[in-house]
Amino acid sequence: MNNTQGKEIFLIWGGESWIASLLYDLLHTTQGHDGDAVVHKTVIRMENREAVLDELDRVKPTHVLNCAGVTGRPNVDWCEDHRDDTLRSNVIGTLNLTDCCFVRGIHCTVFATGCLYTYDAAHPLGSGIGFTEDDPANFSDSFYSFTKAHTETLLKPYANTLILRLRMPVSDDLHPRSFLTKITRYDRVVDIPNSHTMLHDLLPCAILLARHQETGVFNFTNPGAISHNEVLALYKRYIAPDFLWENFSLEEQAKVIKAGRSNCELNVNKLVRKMDEFGVGRVPEIHEAYELCFARMAAEMYQKSTSFGTFSHTRSNGDDGM
Ligand SMILES: NC(=O)c1ccc[n+]([C@@H]2O[C@H](COP(=O)([O-])OP(=O)(O)OC[C@H]3O[C@@H](n4cnc5c(N)ncnc54)[C@H](OP(=O)(O)O)[C@@H]3O)[C@@H](O)[C@H]2O)c1
Repeated sequence: MNNTQGKEIFLIWGGESWIASLLYDLLHTTQGHDGDAVVHKTVIRMENREAVLDELDRVKPTHVLNCAGVTGRPNVDWCEDHRDDTLRSNVIGTLNLTDCCFVRGIHCTVFATGCLYTYDAAHPLGSGIGFTEDDPANFSDSFYSFTKAHTETLLKPYANTLILRLRMPVSDDLHPRSFLTKITRYDRVVDIPNSHTMLHDLLPCAILLARHQETGVFNFTNPGAISHNEVLALYKRYIAPDFLWENFSLEEQAKVIKAGRSNCELNVNKLVRKMDEFGVGRVPEIHEAYELCFARMAAEMYQKSTSFGTFSHTRSNGDDGM
């Protein structure tokens, strides 16, 4: 889809969000190099229909990348006590923005969540049997996940909409929002395998899928599942040799968090097949993806002449959610 000048115009919603900033940089650096893409971002509230339509008419995007949503600060527990705010953004706002894009004939990519599941008898922990895009959500122990699951169901019929289910996203830079940074700062961590989204690998896939006008739901993580201890052991090996951590059980964790946390593995065959179809390189398995991430991180640290193992690990209340 192009505008009248033949250019793709991306409009990133939730322009100040962590993932929006990474997407913006990516579109500006690599993806925009051919001069065919123009990138804008906006912080207009999704639930404000008139303002949303005005912004769409002003920017005339070919693609909206929706990174807006309530995620809770310091974590998803916030959503338990702010249900109206959470509903207004994650349900009403997301639906409104998608509907406005539909009305204007604009492709809309929603950066959604895969925290809709919990291991069960048909998908046991450690079995490698992941939840597919067609499996109904079976996790609603957090209000955040509850809103996201219902919104996904309501978004599915929109013919202009691509829904990407991220989980425990990780960046290359120890950003405070990155899953890796979070677990290095907790007092204690649970140790359970999960699907993770390595943003370095997956964000270029998001842009490709949007450019190809793909629609429907995609589990949007690297293949496989990795446990917290495996991640921290790799972190210790490559980045911070002095790093130590303590574990606690899910039962102990439950005592210090308000909302439940989703633990699950997603089946990413659909995404992998699509990337094959596009002829792009394979999406690395999650253990390999972490090794590559730490190699990039170490190279960056070396470049900045930062000595290894000198990060300060400010500990916080132990939980492993968002
Ligand atoms: N980070 C994760 O661990 C993770 C995992 C899976 C999925 N996701 C999803 O990916 C998306 C982006 O995540 P992120 O971590 O980059 O988010 P983030 O850093 O928490 O930022 C969310 C942004 O959305 C904006 N926002 C909230 N409600 C809005 C509304 N009604 N209208 C317009 N903007 C609104 C916020 O602006 P204000 O601060 O001004 O309200 C904020 O800038 C979210 O939808 C999230 O659910 C994130």
